[in-house]
Amino acid sequence: MKNIAVVHGPNLNLLGEREPEVYGAMTLADLNQEVTTFAQAMGLEIRVFQSNSEGTIIDFLHEQRKWADGVVINPAAFTHYSYALRDAIAAIGLPVIEVHLSNILEREEFRRHSVVADVCVARLMGLGYRGYLRALEHLVGFGVRKELDNQVAQSNDLDTGLKTCVNLLKERFPKYTWAGIYLVEGDELVLHNFIGKPSPHERIPIGKGVCGAAVAAEESIIVSDVNADPRYLACSIETKSEIVVPIFAGPQVVGEIDIDSDQPDAFHEGDREMLESCAEILGKLF
Ligand code: SME
Repeated sequence: MKNIAVVHGPNLNLLGEREPEVYGAMTLADLNQEVTTFAQAMGLEIRVFQSNSEGTIIDFLHEQRKWADGVVINPAAFTHYSYALRDAIAAIGLPVIEVHLSNILEREEFRRHSVVADVCVARLMGLGYRGYLRALEHLVGFGVRKELDNQVAQSNDLDTGLKTCVNLLKERFPKYTWAGIYLVEGDELVLHNFIGKPSPHERIPIGKGVCGAAVAAEESIIVSDVNADPRYLACSIETKSEIVVPIFAGPQVVGEIDIDSDQPDAFHEGDREMLESCAEILGKLF
């Protein structure tokens, strides 16, 4: 996932001017600047495009289908009735993410239905410009899952699978400052492999720390502010937030993916969903 086309539909050229109480004060140029800066930090190439015309957007999607690895599209009002755009999204055979600045489910009745949703891999709405940034992350995560899945299918080796997973995550997500995998051994978690600063917590009793809590509860935990969580065992004083995702082999927790970030509140549902898919792929190796 390297090349991404970002498409804005009708009336988005008037962003900042048009109904600012709904769409905010940010102009499209400001929004594109945020998207471009974020994409660069993630090592992505992007092509940004806006049009008020249905056919022009469809032509653009057709033209970009050989270059792009994925698409982020805010189809604006076309969302609700353009079967032609829906068919174009299906035709290009790329992962496409539907983005809306506002939460279209909380607005007029006619905006509640999307004719493109079933041909898009995800929909992000009501997050303002951040929805586009999350969509870029989602596409990167989509690529990571696919690469990990291919690698696991090829080697079918646990050690290689765990290392590939950590490498891919650390390499593709700059906000992941520390990425590692712990495996369950008896009533402890033992650090198997990691990228980042060495951790003083190579063995963690199940039930202790955020890591041990996730295994005991058999569910993922997101800690948006580690300093406010009494369970947190510090690995580095720079860490601000953490996500821990158990790896299941059948009903049994056999390990977990642990990610730290130096950014506060770095993890959201998209990270959880992507990391849980990675854990599911790894679970097949146990
Ligand atoms: N923070 C973890 C300990 C592991 S280090 O972050 C690598 C915890 O609270 O369990």
